[in-house]
Amino acid sequence: MSKTVLVSGGAGFIGSHVTVELSQAGYDVIIADNMSNCDETNYKGVCAILGKQLPFIKMDFCDSAATEKLFSENKIDAVIHFAAFKAVGESVAEPLMYYKNNLVSFLNILQASREHGTNVLFSSSATVYGEPDETPVTEQSPRKPATSPYGNTKQMCEDFLRDCVAAYGMHGIALRYFNPIGAHPSALIGELPRGVPNNLVPFITQTAIGKRECLYIFGNDYPTPDGTCLRDYIDIVDLAKAHVCAVSRMIEGRMEEPYEIFNIGTGRPVSVLELVNAFEKVNGLKLNYRFAPRREGDVTAVWADPSLAERKLGWKATRTVEQTLAAAWAWEKHLAGK
Ligand code: UD1
Repeated sequence: MSKTVLVSGGAGFIGSHVTVELSQAGYDVIIADNMSNCDETNYKGVCAILGKQLPFIKMDFCDSAATEKLFSENKIDAVIHFAAFKAVGESVAEPLMYYKNNLVSFLNILQASREHGTNVLFSSSATVYGEPDETPVTEQSPRKPATSPYGNTKQMCEDFLRDCVAAYGMHGIALRYFNPIGAHPSALIGELPRGVPNNLVPFITQTAIGKRECLYIFGNDYPTPDGTCLRDYIDIVDLAKAHVCAVSRMIEGRMEEPYEIFNIGTGRPVSVLELVNAFEKVNGLKLNYRFAPRREGDVTAVWADPSLAERKLGWKATRTVEQTLAAAWAWEKHLAGK
């Protein structure tokens, strides 16, 4: 009998790609989203890729009664929690909004999961490592004090999950994503930032399409080979596949510890300038960019040691940065109707 996975925030960037991979792997997926930070584009794209309508529930996980109702009306084998705010700067300006939304929703999911015996996958972030003392970072690398309420919610939610697993006999996995970029090869789903993008790749593609005049590269005086920051850019479809591996590990009872953490990255550091050059080369265009002062809060360099995920989850990133940047550009053109 097929197993059911609930995807909170399933209409968003990561959630929609994970939904596609789970469904293609044979899972029944329920998408739940309050649509506070997206429209129906990705949900429609998911259904088009899969050639079927997936169950969609418009709801807010901050509503504990609605969360409990959803879990009692459906036999949910695992829940993946994406429904959270994610803009670092906004979280500094609006900490209460971030703490309320990101923490309350996850507490409600944990409560319902405890009562219904549901496995929990939490979508964490490399932000928990802060400015690391050593690179690449392993899952044992120390977590650094969070520099934003957003980062703090990731650390706190990891701790909520760890403590609930220890106390209630639950099973949970936290995946620490590095920098998710790109889009589905169909160009039917992708990233849909509201307003001016904070993240690098949507800013690049919007500059290339003419929506932004110029890309500002924040800092070229970092102690790195070309002076720009180093990150581990992970293809969104590769990232989505890691969730299928983690969900099946939980559902099939293959976990070695009841709470496990995995880095999800490529293991390859790429500088901002290298990424910009790769985008220009693979898509055959020139980007209008300029160097600008450093952005407050940016770390110099962080990339993953993803070997634990390879050994235990049987997962490895497969797509090249060029393939990923070609997909990101195809998505931007799709949005522009080109
Ligand atoms: C940020 C968050 C991370 C989150 C991720 C995805 C922190 C410190 N960072 O990562 O938690 O998971 O977004 O939402 O919490 N850059 C430019 N020009 C731009 C935009 C970015 O030069 O217009 C540079 C940045 O300085 C950085 C790199 O590009 O070196 C990547 O930036 P970004 O895409 O915003 O991701 P992070 O800050 O690494």
